[in-house]
Amino acid sequence: MPDFTKTILITGGAGFIGSHVVRLFIRKYPHYRIVNLDALTYAGNLENLKDVEQEPGYHFEKADITNEEELNSLFARYTFDAIIHLAAESHVDRSIMDPLAFVKTNVLGTANLLNVARKHWKNDMNKKRFYHVSTDEVYGSLGEEGFFTESTPYDPRSPYSASKASSDHFVMAYYHTYHMPVVMSNCSNNYGSHHFPEKLIPLMINNIKNGRPLPVYGKGENVRDWLWVEDHARAIDVIFHEGKNGEKYNVGGFNEWKNIDIVHLLCDIMDKKLGREKGESARLIHYVTDRPGHDLRYAIDATKLNKELGWKPSLQFEEGLEKTVDWYLGNQEWVNHVTSGDYQHYYQDQYAIR
Ligand code: NAD
Ligand code: TYD
Repeated sequence: MPDFTKTILITGGAGFIGSHVVRLFIRKYPHYRIVNLDALTYAGNLENLKDVEQEPGYHFEKADITNEEELNSLFARYTFDAIIHLAAESHVDRSIMDPLAFVKTNVLGTANLLNVARKHWKNDMNKKRFYHVSTDEVYGSLGEEGFFTESTPYDPRSPYSASKASSDHFVMAYYHTYHMPVVMSNCSNNYGSHHFPEKLIPLMINNIKNGRPLPVYGKGENVRDWLWVEDHARAIDVIFHEGKNGEKYNVGGFNEWKNIDIVHLLCDIMDKKLGREKGESARLIHYVTDRPGHDLRYAIDATKLNKELGWKPSLQFEEGLEKTVDWYLGNQEWVNHVTSGDYQHYYQDQYAIR
């Protein structure tokens, strides 16, 4: 058994981004012990980490961040040097259906985690680190021009972004009030492997493959700034190790796309891969009723992270999208598992009335 130099609690490690962060840390830092805490909601899936689960530094703990007793018992069993907090309810459409679930997990869960950490860390707080992973959606919606910087005022407009904004405020409150060493990042939309097919890109890939309608909200003109998920994991690594206490860092792809252009690009890629005639998949596009309060545009200015910590995205979008499509086509079993059961009910509720 190696001697571990640090024990890090990663919450939400069996979800999309969290599983990439766990994988990167396990592979890059074999001398760290990584404790992956996850409640395994519909979005959490241990299959995401099959390739690292046998590593000596990896531990999985099924627990809920809203449950104080469960957290207390984990903090008593492990001496955590740091926390990287990703566990959350993460899908805007679900937040519109059930906002209080987002308040519970994202607001209460984060406050509970901060508070349990504060109590257990009170004697050596200055040696610890609490890293909160957040989203650019807290800044609200941009018009045609401009970018979100770290000093853009918060203006959340969906129950999801309001709950994340609230959790960000709690993190900063623990920094100022209790001198907890915190660091935070706000990232744009991620894409890549293991992405749950309720979000735009994996949902479209799955529907194109199955010849199902492609539901584009409104006119498809909303813009998102897309980042390869492994680049986000690399940013988290750099910020975790080198970011300054009390600071936040914006993470983005410098890669803005209208939704409809992404859907067309995916259709073209998949026509080729599936041996379909060019234009065949695009015939599946359906414009449907817009998302209520649909933010028009997100765009991140990640200059601070680039200048201060030297991070930049590694992959061009077209290349990343093709790799993503290849992953989904090569992992049909994973897709079948996550789209069985509750997914069908969710899909029915979300799209039937549009
Ligand atoms: P995800 O929905 O894929 O995964 C969330 C994980 O959290 C799941 O494994 C789920 O089981 C777990 N979880 C949910 N509630 C929990 C609870 N009460 N206790 C313990 N675990 C719980 O989400 P994701 O897309 O990987 O996002 C991870 C984090 O990154 C979130 O905080 C999200 O706000 C943030 N983020 C996401 C994006 C994006 O594009 N997906 C962009 C920027 C920031
Ligand atoms: P999504 O992946 O849900 O991320 P977010 O809302 O957090 O940015 O959606 C990305 C964009 O795609 C957003 O503008 C909504 C749009 N969208 C559709 O047009 N159709 C869909 O079926 C989904 C899920 C999203």
